[in-house]
Amino acid sequence: MSGETEHSIEARIADADEFEPPASFVEQANVTDPEIYDDFESEWPECWEQAADLLDWDTEYDTVLDDSNPPFFEWFTGGELNASYNALDRHLDERGDEAAIEWIGEPTDEANRTYTYRELHREVNEFAAALRDLGVGEDDVVTMYMPMVPELPVAMLACARIGAPHSVVFAGFSADALATRMNSADSEYLVTCDGYYRRGDALEHKAKADDGLGGVDHDVTGVVVDRLGDAYDHPMRDGGNGGATGSDHDYDALVDDHAGAEVDPVSRDAEDMLFLMYTSGTTGQPKGVKHTTGGYLSWVTWTSQAVLDVKPEDTYWCSADIGWITGHSYIVYGPLSLGTTTVMYEGTPDYPEKDRMWDIVEEYETTQLYTAPTAIRAFMKWGERYPAEHDLSSLRLLGTVGEPINPRAWKWYYEHVGDESCPVVDTWWQTETGGMMITTLPGVKNMKPGAAGPPLPGMDVNVVDAVGDEVDAGEAGYLTVDKPWPGMLRTLYQNDERYVQEYWAEYSDTDSDDPDDWTYFPEDGAKIDDDGYITVLGRVDDVINVSGHRLGTMEIESAIVGVEGVAEAAVVGGNHPVKGEAVHAYVITEDDAEGGSELRGKIIEGVEDAIGPIARPESVVFTPELPKTRSGKIMRRLLEDIANGDDLGNTSTLRNPGIVEDIQAAVDAGG
Ligand code: WT7
Repeated sequence: MSGETEHSIEARIADADEFEPPASFVEQANVTDPEIYDDFESEWPECWEQAADLLDWDTEYDTVLDDSNPPFFEWFTGGELNASYNALDRHLDERGDEAAIEWIGEPTDEANRTYTYRELHREVNEFAAALRDLGVGEDDVVTMYMPMVPELPVAMLACARIGAPHSVVFAGFSADALATRMNSADSEYLVTCDGYYRRGDALEHKAKADDGLGGVDHDVTGVVVDRLGDAYDHPMRDGGNGGATGSDHDYDALVDDHAGAEVDPVSRDAEDMLFLMYTSGTTGQPKGVKHTTGGYLSWVTWTSQAVLDVKPEDTYWCSADIGWITGHSYIVYGPLSLGTTTVMYEGTPDYPEKDRMWDIVEEYETTQLYTAPTAIRAFMKWGERYPAEHDLSSLRLLGTVGEPINPRAWKWYYEHVGDESCPVVDTWWQTETGGMMITTLPGVKNMKPGAAGPPLPGMDVNVVDAVGDEVDAGEAGYLTVDKPWPGMLRTLYQNDERYVQEYWAEYSDTDSDDPDDWTYFPEDGAKIDDDGYITVLGRVDDVINVSGHRLGTMEIESAIVGVEGVAEAAVVGGNHPVKGEAVHAYVITEDDAEGGSELRGKIIEGVEDAIGPIARPESVVFTPELPKTRSGKIMRRLLEDIANGDDLGNTSTLRNPGIVEDIQAAVDAGG
């Protein structure tokens, strides 16, 4: 620490608003040439051949970008490849005996599991053969409702091998959420799990899965992974089960029955679907985001290399859940495609102690850590002594994703986890973008805490006003993307019309065939500085971001009005010191129902049943009316002000101005 006192380091970091990439990092970084920005701009779209070239193709593509039918852009057309081949087979010669996955269970007295590339390849082949025998054919959607067990990436890659798209549903989602997604995708296969560990408890998952199947309108063949062993004697379906009839098969037995089986990877067209991922939007119905084999895999491989600086010899750790897009792109497909070692941790960061993350970094000598601002804010709250107790010197790069990171949390991460020697990449992207879009290239650009960074090379991102004109530096506007990119979603599953409506209609001339007339709208607010660094301000639609998880206010509202005794509900996001945002519900009861703790309990239960515990309201306020404009629209902004304890601005445009004070009084009185 070259003579500087702890105190002066703190002060220097707190005062700085720009940080240079550490020289020790730059020396070895995958990307270091600043010309890359100009080169990609002048060579667009051919610049993206660089991404495609990171993959092995069965048939070379003939066109980089087919933009003849916007906004249905196609990438690397004519090319054929297989994602499981790219993630596994091609590494066998050189890295067959190296670890592909280091899996760490939550209980500390249990053995961790290492899968070498050869072992992972073997199990993926065996399970692919088993899936085929169960009847899974090319293009059949296989749903996975699984926690962080290694069989989840095995199942995803087995599907990819036989050309069956997967649709992973986050294990923390409710039974209803599973049913909605399986019905929407007509998915006739489900891979699930008996349960998993959370904060020391064995959670039973299979009963919830069966509950969900009760709401599925067609037959479903199930496969069940036995994670808990004797801790949970889980039910297996044999024939009838409410809505979905069908039988379950034991995962281990299937894999044993197919021991040594080899399945040729199916050559998939670049534009063939690799997977579906459901995400929340403005309306109640979740959106089935479609990602393709060639464009998506190129994108996550290139960004893993350029931004996360992944190298084959690394032990790379992304602490997301594979049930979200971050885990798909940056635990499974990107890292494995580069032949590195990817770490998977089952449990929570505070079990058995608040240093579990640092314990894992030290033991596995992880070289990267990619996590969420909500986690960093929790680490900060727990205190710097937890990381300080461990040797974290193996770390070379830190990353964050999912929501804006406040400069204080950024600096804490940089100092107490990175020891000022790791660049921090704040990566902005979405389920729909497939991979990173806005962030610094860590070997090239300075970092500015609070700003994600400039758009990646080859990206045409702007901050505009309501009519699409660029706003001045420092002013708030809307984020737009003016050129397509390989990792972009191709459509919403079986709903091209909603795809155009949700993402393009706002800023495009939707009658035009000219690709330049089309602009993608991510529904985020943002501002840009004089250096082109973008600060993302958050969603401008009715989506709440709780701990980096996207929740639609409509989905939560419809769960609440489904509770007996509730007449109407409005849900807003309020600021939360750790979660970023939290759910606040304002509820009108039916005439004969009483708004009290009993109904509040039922509302919370109703939301957890319909969506999952992540959507649990932080507060439920009963009110005789909701603040409405003269045209009858709920004024959510005022409810947000109440949730945040902010001054209530102008209420004069309301039809019922007095109600705001009444609600405020109810909140002050404790709901
Ligand atoms: C929304 C997308 C990206 C994978 C995880 C979330 C917000 C994401 C950042 C960031 C500010 C961010 C945006 C975006 N978001 N990353 N670095 N800074 N905001 O994927 O569930 O599709 O959510 O998360 O609002 O639109 P998602």
